[in-house]
Amino acid sequence: MEKRVSESEVNSEIIVLPEDTNMFSDLYGGRLVEWMDNIGSITAFKHCRKKVVTGSIDSLFFLSPIKLGYIVHLHSMVTYTTKSTMEIEIDVSSENVETGNKSVTTRAFFTYVAIDENGHASEIPEIIPETSDEKARFEEAIKRSEYRLNSLKNIRKDLKI
Ligand SMILES: CC(C)(COP(=O)(O)OP(=O)(O)OC[C@H]1O[C@@H](n2cnc3c(N)ncnc32)[C@H](O)[C@@H]1OP(=O)(O)O)[C@@H](O)C(=O)NCCC(=O)NCCS
Repeated sequence: MEKRVSESEVNSEIIVLPEDTNMFSDLYGGRLVEWMDNIGSITAFKHCRKKVVTGSIDSLFFLSPIKLGYIVHLHSMVTYTTKSTMEIEIDVSSENVETGNKSVTTRAFFTYVAIDENGHASEIPEIIPETSDEKARFEEAIKRSEYRLNSLKNIRKDLKI
């Protein structure tokens, strides 16, 4: 079975409250990663309609801080799939509520693994990139997937698991 990128793409917005910030009134990085993982998992669920777990997070870059009271925009889309994994790109930008000015703040690639009732990896639909942008992202993701698989093999070897 195959699925389009648009079938699981998610956009979400949230406002930064005092409990989300550090003593400099900037959003905690960990809180943002939690929000990113949340939206990423929704995209993964929509793509495969199975239980999923977060497997890895690659290339997580915090590019600019997000201030208390700013609106945070999150966008999440499947870029690539293997037999049972989905690579999901999550892009974040912030918006000043008074001026409406927006800044790109964060990007990362989360990998989710679909699992069955016994916690074993389970097959998922293949992603079908349609637009030129989706096709370019798919091509880029192939390299990351190879790198990720090698890293996973090496870490399992190092940790003897
Ligand atoms: C992810 C998990 C289900 C993999 O289980 P497994 O039976 O060892 O899976 P396999 O080694 O057969 O790998 C299955 C697929 O997942 C991929 N994979 C496995 N672990 C991965 C990881 N940590 N990150 C990314 N991909 C992973 C494999 O490359 C393989 O890909 P394929 O689609 O090409 O077949 C298991 O390691 C797990 O439950 N991890 C904990 C997840 C978790 O708790 N996340 C929450 C954050 S703490």
